[in-house]
Amino acid sequence: KLEAVIFDLDGVITDSAEYHYLAWKALAEELGLSFDRAKNERLKGVSRMESLEIVLEDSGLHLSEKEKLELATKKNENYKRMIERITPADLLPGIGSLLDGLQARGVSIGLASASHNAPLILERLEAGHWFQAVADPGSIAKGKPDPEIFLLAAEMLGVDPMNCIGVEDAEAGVRAIQAAGMKSVGIGSSDQLGAADLLLSSTFELSTDLLFGLFNRQ
Ligand code: BG6
Ligand code: MG
Repeated sequence: KLEAVIFDLDGVITDSAEYHYLAWKALAEELGLSFDRAKNERLKGVSRMESLEIVLEDSGLHLSEKEKLELATKKNENYKRMIERITPADLLPGIGSLLDGLQARGVSIGLASASHNAPLILERLEAGHWFQAVADPGSIAKGKPDPEIFLLAAEMLGVDPMNCIGVEDAEAGVRAIQAAGMKSVGIGSSDQLGAADLLLSSTFELSTDLLFGLFNRQ
């Protein structure tokens, strides 16, 4: 029986993935490094410091840990200025009615975001009331594609991972869901998310019936 749906945040609940992209791009440009959307795909779902390593790869720059921390903080400060603009109108299409529908059918709802800014974004969206569990990325050892954060969310909800569906826009995220033993829904393109059990091009296509159908199919 489908007990819970566990969501990624950035790029699934709201389009904050775009702000992450813009903030990393601004930092890269400041450092004179090339950065495009193809490279950005590799950053999705990945922690702040691991993302910085990907931004810096092939740069020839040799930075101390302190300098790296300063760059990551700079990106985050810029990102935080961008997410201040988020309002409840920024829930991605279909998400509000999906969360209402899951709640009405007694399905638990969890969040498994790698972002330390997730609680702030939920607050800006006024979306916190839908989530019975928000897994803290600060309390896990390994980020996506490791399943840890999805397993933590399931544990917090008190549900068996086998009875969960995970929803993600990142390749690392879909891999994490699958490694957790959950059914996976990918929102995006088959270039990155071809491995997902169900691939949708937009959150607009999500519905409770679709998720029950996915869970119940053999
Ligand atoms: C993930 C995003 O949700 O959170 C990544 O997909 C981001 O792009 C990561 O790097 C960490 O976010 P933050 O807000 O803690 O820097
Ligand atoms: Mg995401």
